Amino acid sequence: MAQALGSMESSNVEMFPKEALREQPNTLRNPVIFYLGHIPIFEDIHLARATKPLQPNRRIINKFLKELSDTLDFREKVCARIAALSQMQKPWQDRLIGRALWIGFEHEGLHLEIFLWMTLMSPNILPPPDIPRPDFIRMAEQAVRNLY
Ligand SMILES: [Fe+2]
Repeated sequence: MAQALGSMESSNVEMFPKEALREQPNTLRNPVIFYLGHIPIFEDIHLARATKPLQPNRRIINKFLKELSDTLDFREKVCARIAALSQMQKPWQDRLIGRALWIGFEHEGLHLEIFLWMTLMSPNILPPPDIPRPDFIRMAEQAVRNLY
């Protein structure tokens, strides 16, 4: 789960230039920056039901959505909380905690898929970080050679 949040964060923050985070590539979806805050808040709400909230005042959390650095700090806290829980037996022994983590994992996966779809519509998307750019020309030439 913490890794899932991390991959969402790196794809959101590093693939979209900061000035493009408020972009809304698809009018049916929220701006990209929304998902940076929405996903950890969603997970925190579910973990709060199972345990104790990181930030009990939801109005303060909503304010985080306006400030990128605060949003990223909050995401980091949620990731750390999930990582700490995953080192314990609690998620396996406490059904509510295990369920909260699973719901968060599914939610993250769905949004990652939506996000990747949105990137296809954005004119400002950058290549994924730390992944070598495929040599499409060489791959195409190899594919042609494989035909004969
Ligand atoms: Fe959602």
